[in-house]
Amino acid sequence: MKNDPLLQPFQLKHLRLKNRIMTASHEPAYAEDGMPKERYLAYHLERAKAGIALTMTAGSAAVSKDSPPIFNNLHVYKDEVVPWMKKLTDACHDQGTAVMIQLTHLGRRTGWWKGDWLPVVSPSHRREASHRAFPKKMEDWDIARIIKDYVDAAERMKEAGLDGIELMSYGHLMDQFCSPLTNTLDEPYGGSLNNRLRFNLEVLSAIRKKVGNEFIIGFRFTADEVEEGGITTDQGIEIAKIYNDSSQVDFLNIVRGRIDTDAGLTDVIPVMGMPSAPHLDFAGRIRAVTDIPIFHAAKIQDVATARHAIVSKKLDMVGMVRAHMADPHIVRKIVENREEDIRPCVGANYCLDRIYQGGEALCIHNAATGRELTMPHHISKAKLIRKAVVVGSGPAGLEAARVLGERGHQVVVFEAAAQPGGQILLTVQSKRRAEMISIIDWRIKQCNAFNVEFNFNTYAELEMVINEQPNIVIIATGGYPDTEALEKGNQWVVSTWDILSRTIKPGNNVLLYDDAGDHAALQAAEIIADSGAKLEIMTPDRSFAPEVMAMNLVPYMRSLQEKDVIFTVTFRLKSVRKYGRSLRASIGTDYSDLIKHQYYDQIVVNHGTKPMDEIYFDLKPLSSNHGEVNHEDLILGKPQNLVRNKNGKFQLFRIGDAVSARNTHAAIYDALRLCKNF
Ligand SMILES: Cc1cc2nc3c(=O)[nH]c(=O)nc-3n(C[C@H](O)[C@H](O)[C@H](O)COP(=O)(O)O)c2cc1C
Ligand code: SF4
Repeated sequence: MKNDPLLQPFQLKHLRLKNRIMTASHEPAYAEDGMPKERYLAYHLERAKAGIALTMTAGSAAVSKDSPPIFNNLHVYKDEVVPWMKKLTDACHDQGTAVMIQLTHLGRRTGWWKGDWLPVVSPSHRREASHRAFPKKMEDWDIARIIKDYVDAAERMKEAGLDGIELMSYGHLMDQFCSPLTNTLDEPYGGSLNNRLRFNLEVLSAIRKKVGNEFIIGFRFTADEVEEGGITTDQGIEIAKIYNDSSQVDFLNIVRGRIDTDAGLTDVIPVMGMPSAPHLDFAGRIRAVTDIPIFHAAKIQDVATARHAIVSKKLDMVGMVRAHMADPHIVRKIVENREEDIRPCVGANYCLDRIYQGGEALCIHNAATGRELTMPHHISKAKLIRKAVVVGSGPAGLEAARVLGERGHQVVVFEAAAQPGGQILLTVQSKRRAEMISIIDWRIKQCNAFNVEFNFNTYAELEMVINEQPNIVIIATGGYPDTEALEKGNQWVVSTWDILSRTIKPGNNVLLYDDAGDHAALQAAEIIADSGAKLEIMTPDRSFAPEVMAMNLVPYMRSLQEKDVIFTVTFRLKSVRKYGRSLRASIGTDYSDLIKHQYYDQIVVNHGTKPMDEIYFDLKPLSSNHGEVNHEDLILGKPQNLVRNKNGKFQLFRIGDAVSARNTHAAIYDALRLCKNF
């Protein structure tokens, strides 16, 4: 392990980085009042304790008030940020981890309706598709003011003891200056490449003058916008050389692509089913033409690819952002020769999609990420060993079994199916979403290490559970598709699960009615459209697939738009009647009494699931708590102690979709926060 290329130190100017693994900057949206408080610190400290060399904090920390915090960005334009950043930096430094921060002005990549309601600014009036604000075209005094804001923010970070800063130049203001697509200014800041780069270089020089040489400054920039009229590779290389020749830049972090649309962003930061490390070779090309250390991150999910990036000399430092959200202990596990224990990032992109919906970053299958103050990444041993029965082995059941197993309890799992996975088995029917199976595989491997006993093809009955003489029973039986969505005619429709499981073949002229708005609908839609059928997707909502979210929608749209699928929003399927060989759909709307009738030969309904709860209600009267959960204790992370039946010999709990239809993260969080306390 000592010779592992990933574990070799890297000398960045005066700063010694202890290995080659870093987290590239990413705003997890954990700030409180724009400040990196305890939650923010705990998140970074977890990675630092596990041995990461460098944590690039924030992501898009706002240097100016007219860079409104669209995804709960840090307000580094305020002096009060200094003590908070100092606390975080000191804590990480104590672990030997270097700390930097990404500073930015978002330019047009934000909304005027946030923060102080100032107009957003950009070097052109052109609107960004993703954030939709029409920017003010910058004047000379905007430019002077923002350069000063950058300098002040950099000074604050130096005062807080950080090792350096990264200036963000892709998609944000700096890149809006550089790109011919977003800069319509006249000289001296518009026109030629040198003019377009002038703003960045003036910011750089002004900061350098203030902070001196002993402070690291780098650029994260797009070296190829991959769009007609945008920055080309040749120009990107020229920009890199200009930074190189300035002798003021200490590292470059390479990005390829544009992020002004959901589709563009998804090509820059690929999701599951897209190629791994797609821009690594490109970053290597930039490394070959400059003397500046090169950083890069884009779907380098696993240790082998990270190692390859270093060995092949494509990078000096490997950024693994989402990989660390899935498992913050990657470096520790490499050092301890436990790579197979690393919880894999499956590229579900729940983390990133959530922040663009105003939420905080959460990992689909690590419920402790971002909750370090209350949820453990490492499960400690219980003092009292107990016997637990878990019914069901989908994500909720397996997480319960894993956590109880790691606590040291004796765990028996009953599963009606021949294999574990629950709804994930349906998810992976789409080739593009096959990586989701790692959520199951990783847990099975962990459970095996903790001697969890699995009984497949075993439909749990009351007697069977009681015979195990358990102290704890967890019901994680999941749900079954609910097709009772209509006023009349439910017997004529099929479910998305019927299509996904290939139990029912797609018809020729299909209506897919989706009021759940989750992946199941669009996955079924892909199967139907791929079969050559005519397909209409209808939802009563204002937009379709709201639970799928922005970047996850991209691959679906690429496939469905190609096949002429019709998308109908704001119409509600009321009832269905058999009409000869056709189905007559009565379609209404929540907005008026309008009713229209349309004909299909198949109607597929996606209406969530109903809990599979028979065994729970069978066991409930026999349990000591009658299945009741003390929510206060659950939220506070305390053990469950409710007693409703003194004769009860076991505590009983239900988790995941066996309670109500939710998602994979909710199921796993249910299991972790309950079971860590037994
Ligand atoms: C939750 C989240 C927030 C992010 N925010 C930023 C940001 O503010 N600035 C930035 O340059 N990149 C941001 N990124 C992109 C990451 O730095 C990185 O480029 C991307 O996640 C690809 O690397 P990965 O495949 O290792 O995750 C963000 C990523 C995530 C997951
Ligand atoms: S949500 Fe998905 S992409 Fe994000 S860290 Fe977790 S596994 Fe990786």
